Amino acid sequence: MSFPQHRLRRLRRTESLRRMIREVTLTADDLVQPLFVCPGSSIRKPIDSMPGQFHFSVDMVIEEAKRVYLSGIPAVLLFGLPESKDALGSGGWDPEAPVQQAVRGIRAALPELTIITDVCLCEYTDHGHCGALHDKTVDNDATLDLLCRVALSHAEAGADLVAPSDMMDGRVGAIRKVLDDAGFSEVGILAYSAKQASAYYGPFREAAESAPQFGDRRGYQMDPANAVEALREVRLDIEEGADIVMVKPGISCLDILYRVKQTFGYPTASYQVSGEYAMIEAAAQRGWIDRKRVILETLTAFKRAGADIIITYHAAEVAGWLQTERG
Ligand code: PBG
Ligand code: ZN
Repeated sequence: MSFPQHRLRRLRRTESLRRMIREVTLTADDLVQPLFVCPGSSIRKPIDSMPGQFHFSVDMVIEEAKRVYLSGIPAVLLFGLPESKDALGSGGWDPEAPVQQAVRGIRAALPELTIITDVCLCEYTDHGHCGALHDKTVDNDATLDLLCRVALSHAEAGADLVAPSDMMDGRVGAIRKVLDDAGFSEVGILAYSAKQASAYYGPFREAAESAPQFGDRRGYQMDPANAVEALREVRLDIEEGADIVMVKPGISCLDILYRVKQTFGYPTASYQVSGEYAMIEAAAQRGWIDRKRVILETLTAFKRAGADIIITYHAAEVAGWLQTERG
């Protein structure tokens, strides 16, 4: 049977019909809010490249986390800016660094909120690469030990999940072992598994002051042309003990996200990154797009493609919208 017996428009006629046949519905439960923690106190400094996002000192990030929690979102993802940088990124595992302090403060104030920490070295190295250098390239195996120190210090501070974003081979397994040996078998790993060497991270690197001082990240992050290789990355991370796998960026990787969810059936996260955020904000500022509708449509697309978890800088705001709509 086909037209005229079949008319798909019948079920699009009213909002209640549309609600009945809607396949996916975005909720606050799906969202994770990234937050940037900086040294100092009473700081809430706007980030130029990401209008609406801020650098928060530890005292202020605790307040912000309360706001996020009240919006109904289950988790925050913390990024840190150190006091000072060095070749190895030792600020990354300093127990008194902003992220570690923020984890302890948020944990004490909001025992129910899930705290995820980004584990990488690029915010902490003076050269801006995601690991230790050897002859101008990032030394994979030497970096593993450093990443483990960062992850362990986050676990000691009270993180629920650590999220390695460096793309070194073997880091998930190395971190899992160090956490288990130290008695943190309950701390999970959200692996940035299929993370592309993407131009969409530009605004973040300004925000995190983490742009590489020479070269680029193509020697460790994935070629955006490769989807089959992305499945291998995910498979290896799962074998090494990842609890949740991530595909990154968001909008340009919907095919990979779909394949990862279909292939492995693991809890899967999509990261709508800084450049995607900045593009929406810039076009909206000019009045060229309907900001709210574009944001909701995009996040719904991640969910439809298979994301269980969506990391987005719009998270708290969107959760607020969803709350008011539900009434
Ligand atoms: C650190 C890290 C980056 C992002 C998340 N963790 C930057 C990068 O790899 O250069 C990107 C996040 C974003 O653009 O929103 N390795
Ligand atoms: Zn990095």
